[in-house]
Amino acid sequence: MSLIEESIAKTCDRQDTTPSSPGKMKAMKHEHYGSLEDIELREIDKPVPGNHEVLIRVEAAGLHIGDCFSVRGEPRLMRVETGFLRPKTGIPGFDVAGVVEAVGTKVSRFCPGDEVFGTTQGACAEYATAPEDTLALKPGNLTFEQAATVPTSGLAALHALRDVAGVQAGQTVLINGASGGVGTFAIQLAKSFGAKVTGVCSGRNLELVQSIGADHVIDYTSRDFTREETSYEVILDNKENRSLADCRKALTSDGTLILNSGTGARGLAMMIRLFKPLILSPFTKQNLRRYLSVANHADLTFLKDSIEAGKIIPVIDRIYPLAETTAALEYIEKGHARGKVAVTLQPGK
Ligand SMILES: NC(=O)c1ccc[n+]([C@@H]2O[C@H](COP(=O)([O-])OP(=O)(O)OC[C@H]3O[C@@H](n4cnc5c(N)ncnc54)[C@H](OP(=O)(O)O)[C@@H]3O)[C@@H](O)[C@H]2O)c1
Repeated sequence: MSLIEESIAKTCDRQDTTPSSPGKMKAMKHEHYGSLEDIELREIDKPVPGNHEVLIRVEAAGLHIGDCFSVRGEPRLMRVETGFLRPKTGIPGFDVAGVVEAVGTKVSRFCPGDEVFGTTQGACAEYATAPEDTLALKPGNLTFEQAATVPTSGLAALHALRDVAGVQAGQTVLINGASGGVGTFAIQLAKSFGAKVTGVCSGRNLELVQSIGADHVIDYTSRDFTREETSYEVILDNKENRSLADCRKALTSDGTLILNSGTGARGLAMMIRLFKPLILSPFTKQNLRRYLSVANHADLTFLKDSIEAGKIIPVIDRIYPLAETTAALEYIEKGHARGKVAVTLQPGK
């Protein structure tokens, strides 16, 4: 769809689309912050879209470590988004793919029946609402399960490499945590920008990381990328399992290091880990960065176009039925998923 076409607001009959009575739906719900096992399959009210929102009949949800944080309420910083004392929705699932069921009165991009993907709060349910700005039309060549795994991880990789680092063709880029959710998108995006890409992963994932385009791979169980001769113009560190000083040794003198984790520590240790690179950065030629990836329609559409052009394909590790959301989150929390984990609302379809 061209920009001109897209800028013309879609004219669907909104009067018919706003449900008069919300009805009920099944959802994986937790009332309080705490254990992943507190999430239960329950029947609750279907959400009602606000003026700028759409109601999505969920086909699949994509999960990542942020969903585990949102159920546990830890790290506490997460509660800025999910509610301070109690969870606002209490339904995991920040990433969604499904079919638009109804649209709010001010929605201009989507109509009922459109297949969409994007971010929400509460995708592990039969229905979810989302602002139209955090959605885009689903890539036509993906299943709903594949599409649901793209938004948060794909955008995190895109924002790091394109916006923070400004990766250019021919640059050398190292991705630490190359076999994970963000890493598998980052390898493919960096390649699509023309970079020479090195992926750091364990031996069991070397073939996978090569198969999605890495020019070089480093098995972290036998080699340490911070102690080798080679230095890189851009490092995206999804693991932060090396000290800042060690990572800087693997960076060119004016290279960009993007730190994308910071979650292994707690309290003061976490604050030091989060802010030390940002305080140091103005005093060195190296660019030491953190960033927060925020979903938007234009960048989701960028990912859709890249997927349809064959430049990126989501790597899916496991797909769980809705009732097994807790098992999916427990698997993610172990930290060894190969690519992405999804929850399907249509098992066996
Ligand atoms: N900045 C943002 O806005 C933003 C947005 C989204 C996510 N994030 C952050 O991005 C980080 C990465 O998330 P993710 O979803 O990609 O993680 P993930 O999918 O859970 O990572 C799992 C992968 O990491 C690999 N791994 C484990 N230990 C490793 C090590 N020491 N060295 C290299 N690879 C290792 C595992 O492979 P093996 O099993 O073979 O070890 C596995 O394939 C998280 O900290 C998340 O909070 C930030």
